[in-house]
Amino acid sequence: FVTELDASDAEKGAYPFYMMKEIDEQPAVLRRLTQEYANLDGSFSFDAELLAELQASDRIYIVACGTSYNAGWASKNALEAMMNIPVEVHLSSELGYHMPLLSSKPFFIFLTQSGETADSRQVLVKVNELGYPSLTITNVAGSTLSREAKYTVLLHAGPEIAVASTKAYTAQITVLNLLAKAYGNQNGVKAAKEFDVVHELGLTATAMEAVITEKETIESSVKSILASTRNAFYIGRGEDYYVAMEAALKLKEISYIQAEGFAAGELKHGTIALIEKGTPVFGLINDEVTGPHTRGNLKEVESRGAETFVISSESLAKVGDQLILADVHPYCRALLAVVPTQLIAYYASLHRGYDVDKPRNLAKAVTVE
Ligand code: G6P
Repeated sequence: FVTELDASDAEKGAYPFYMMKEIDEQPAVLRRLTQEYANLDGSFSFDAELLAELQASDRIYIVACGTSYNAGWASKNALEAMMNIPVEVHLSSELGYHMPLLSSKPFFIFLTQSGETADSRQVLVKVNELGYPSLTITNVAGSTLSREAKYTVLLHAGPEIAVASTKAYTAQITVLNLLAKAYGNQNGVKAAKEFDVVHELGLTATAMEAVITEKETIESSVKSILASTRNAFYIGRGEDYYVAMEAALKLKEISYIQAEGFAAGELKHGTIALIEKGTPVFGLINDEVTGPHTRGNLKEVESRGAETFVISSESLAKVGDQLILADVHPYCRALLAVVPTQLIAYYASLHRGYDVDKPRNLAKAVTVE
């Protein structure tokens, strides 16, 4: 059975800021989503018509803004592997003006925590005019994008109050993993059949809890590097690059540090010029294929004076790495790796003396173009 969150969940309780409460809630959200969408008999509770319409499509277009856009990227590889359908990820504000050449049977997925983002809605209106099928994945039942899309899948993350999104990001990736698994099972895709989603999400939730219990260690190790720096970088490759994009967005949103997430291999093509003595560079190393290459890039920035902070998974960890994460299934890596970066952003904001939940110039839902 699934417990919905009630109004008291919107209370901060002992937390100084909603953001920390929402970071802490993520393992529970993963477990709740598993209960909600994966049945005990191995079946899944997604609309059969939705699965059939996905099956009839030849390409998935994910459309989103901000953190939801980053969740789209972080889900792309798992979706393609388990569904065997190409996936493109687009910014709503770009797609709204320039529709690319679409495939002959496109299927649109709108990722939106609030379900009210005007830029995303603008694309949905166009998609509806063109008569293409659409799914909105949102945290808010009855929201505009939910009402106007053909299908809706809810995130069940409970109210997200902090402007900087955390649990909606991980909920979006989780729901997409579950949907891809359900689809792949039904359509006999090997990668989906081999992915024990309930078990893997359970392990990931436990691994997230382990990171969260280390929050004070994370706080003390980043406090001094981030208290006064002007800029910071996250680097990674593959899935780690997608997490780097979200990690940097979180950091800039609430700490006002100029932060960027870079594909580690691109550093040498320009960005490395920005590295000077003391520049913080966070390296994400959670992929056995690309991890060693990212390590090489970290050496390059270190030799130019950067202060590096390495977040690696256990099997790839080296002595001196600052934070070690449990090994989780590749489709769940982004879910886990993002958590320390959320904590890093939180503490950077806190120690710079800002209102973590209400960063300047930003709104929770942007209902204007
Ligand atoms: C705003 C928020 C972001 C959010 C983005 C997309 O800019 O400040 O945190 O990621 O909108 O919102 P949505 O509700 O569509 O996911």
